[in-house]
Amino acid sequence: MLVLGIETSCDETAAAIVRDGREIVSSVIASQIATHTRFGGVVPELASREHLDKIVPIIEEAFTSTGITKDQIDGIAVTVGPGLIGSLLVGVSYAKAMAFALDKPLVGVNHIEGHIYSVCFENPPVEYPALALIVSGGHTNLFFVPSPGKYKVVSRTRDDAAGEAFDKVAKMLGLGYPGGPIIEKLAREGNPKAVKFALPRMGDNRPDFSFSGLKTAVTKYVRESGLQPVPDGEEPSQGIKDLAASFQSTVVRSLVTTMERVAQEYRPKTLIVAGGVACNGALREAARVAAAKLGLPVYFPSPHLSTDNAAMIAAAGTVKLQAGERSGWDLNADVMLRLQNIEVEDDELRKHVRYRL
Ligand code: KG4
Ligand code: ZN
Repeated sequence: MLVLGIETSCDETAAAIVRDGREIVSSVIASQIATHTRFGGVVPELASREHLDKIVPIIEEAFTSTGITKDQIDGIAVTVGPGLIGSLLVGVSYAKAMAFALDKPLVGVNHIEGHIYSVCFENPPVEYPALALIVSGGHTNLFFVPSPGKYKVVSRTRDDAAGEAFDKVAKMLGLGYPGGPIIEKLAREGNPKAVKFALPRMGDNRPDFSFSGLKTAVTKYVRESGLQPVPDGEEPSQGIKDLAASFQSTVVRSLVTTMERVAQEYRPKTLIVAGGVACNGALREAARVAAAKLGLPVYFPSPHLSTDNAAMIAAAGTVKLQAGERSGWDLNADVMLRLQNIEVEDDELRKHVRYRL
């Protein structure tokens, strides 16, 4: 089955053709980083305009680079949410028009579900139940996945997403956008033990995440230590590198200890770590160590599939299309779309959960 995936939820215009949900035939991504970098974050109005400019050439390129014609595809999968409304609408409208014109089945995909499927291309088939840590600029969640297409949110962030924390701290230190890769690079030359940051504790003991307290602690440290933001084009000081390393190691510890705790209680057969922050080498290393301790395989997408792309949307869409799922012409973008379709009380879930959190 050949599926065209279309992704425009944030600041990447992407199209991909995927065979049988596992093989990437083509994957084209137009990043808008250059447009947004001078604002230190994504400007929604500019993002949707740029999607409009790019959507046609990007989809054309996904076909011309392969020799596959539009008639040969078996369906179209498009991200319907969550994301920026103006951006999502470009992809959804284009996908609907294309499916109508070509008389092909259409299916809407949740962007987060797409991130979970991003591990399908380069790893052995996922054994279920799986536990998926999705860490990106907009989301930080742990999903328990008893079988394909079933999701329960086990942990969520109570405030900022992990990637958002990287971006905000980088902005505060004058380091540029997106913050994750810049902080990771500086952290390699810094001492992760230089600044001690506490891990957040939830009053109700739920295995949730929180990063805004850490962001405040970094602000306070900068103020009290007298560290100055790095001027444009200048080499960051050792103090900035140490702070970057200490911040990164706190985020990684928080993510991985929570994943470990949940894995001990939910007993999955596979761990998945995906989303833009999964590019982070320190996170991968810590997740590998935790997985080895738990005796579980851990799957990551390679970095170009960790950040937003359309191959993951096509892969998630393939499963839905194969199950006979179809979206109608009333398919619409949903900014707040949630990915949670099973309850703790489900019999299927109870089989796997040793005890309730
Ligand atoms: O998945 P993604 O491309 O977009 C969203 O759906 O949000 O994730 C982008 C996020 C940004 O916040 C970026 O700073 C972060 O992923 N990121 C990283 C790294 N590379 C990208 N965070 C930490 N370390 C990295 N190497
Ligand atoms: Zn994403």
